[in-house]
Amino acid sequence: MADGSIPVADCAAIPEGRFIKVKVESLDLIIAHAGGRYYAIEDLCSHEDYPLSFGCLHGATIKCSLHGSAFDLASGQPLSPPAEQPIRVFPVQIRDEKVWVDPIV
Ligand code: FES
Repeated sequence: MADGSIPVADCAAIPEGRFIKVKVESLDLIIAHAGGRYYAIEDLCSHEDYPLSFGCLHGATIKCSLHGSAFDLASGQPLSPPAEQPIRVFPVQIRDEKVWVDPIV
């Protein structure tokens, strides 16, 4: 990867099954740790632009707390209605025990 990646969090700051919110440039992101992997997604439900950070993780998915749509953390695809559009996801690398995200994608 190459790239415009920047460090956004220490891995140790995000326990398995949890997420944190970070601001990267003008983007509000969620950095999640699930199933031993780290994910970066925009903190915005594709259904009605509601913060996904009010929701919760279920394995490698995040569930919106407003109307209940779940999204795959890796692909961003909606897994249940009413959302029909994917959320934005961003490439993640782990370097030096930090989570790096490329916010340009
Ligand atoms: S705003 Fe997220 S499912 Fe409706």
